[in-house]
Amino acid sequence: MRNGNPQQIRLAQLLGLGPVWRVRDPGGFAAPAEPRSAPRAAASPDPAAPTVADVETLDWDGLEQAVRNCTACGLCRSRTQTVFGVGSRDARWMFVGEAPGAEEDAQGEPFVGQAGRLLDNMLAAAGLGRARDDAPSVREAVYIGNVIKCRPPGNRNPDAEEVARCAPFLLRQIELLRPRILVAMGRFAAQTLLETEGSIGSLRGRAHEFVRGDLRIPVVVTYHPAYLLRTPGDKAKAWEDLCLARRVYSEQSP
Ligand code: URA
Repeated sequence: MRNGNPQQIRLAQLLGLGPVWRVRDPGGFAAPAEPRSAPRAAASPDPAAPTVADVETLDWDGLEQAVRNCTACGLCRSRTQTVFGVGSRDARWMFVGEAPGAEEDAQGEPFVGQAGRLLDNMLAAAGLGRARDDAPSVREAVYIGNVIKCRPPGNRNPDAEEVARCAPFLLRQIELLRPRILVAMGRFAAQTLLETEGSIGSLRGRAHEFVRGDLRIPVVVTYHPAYLLRTPGDKAKAWEDLCLARRVYSEQSP
């Protein structure tokens, strides 16, 4: 694939045929790094936790603190720490996942496990990066967040109540960031951002719109990286989704 055009080379990389998309640690998960901050003592659910109305007035620091202290659902009991989000707060791209896994719970940062390594490779193949240093310019900088800020035990799916309690934090992150494009990775992100019950299969392939107050942000739906690890045959479709997202972004931010 060395002789292909950049698009072909990226597709080959996406399919695992080139260096960018190769999973760097095929032997399993890397040992978790030291937590970024000291893990908090397990908390208990608190019915007086921040309400949606409270959350809507918070700035970045207040929001991060509200997430850190949140006891609105039972996930607070088993978490090591909350996982707020990562990336430049000037980022024009926002990628949204589901919920932290074991490594994210240990490190306090989204997508640092095996699925995160695949996501980083996907971002690199698309010329994007999660931190300002990884991104060629602010135009290519990505902010990454999750619908759920605490790890569900055993990485089970979040339940409807947990999503309902946690989604206001994500919605406020979007309001504060005001990204030019949202990429929803997986069913929980897509259904939360688009307020739909639709499947990934029915939502992929076209741009949707996230609407909140005066905000109108295009949304492209794609597979979750953890799904792609289990189903590598769908990586080509994920690459199509990223190409669609790039086109949508270029059209509205020339
Ligand atoms: N999967 C997610 O959806 N989010 C993470 O942060 C890690 C894995």
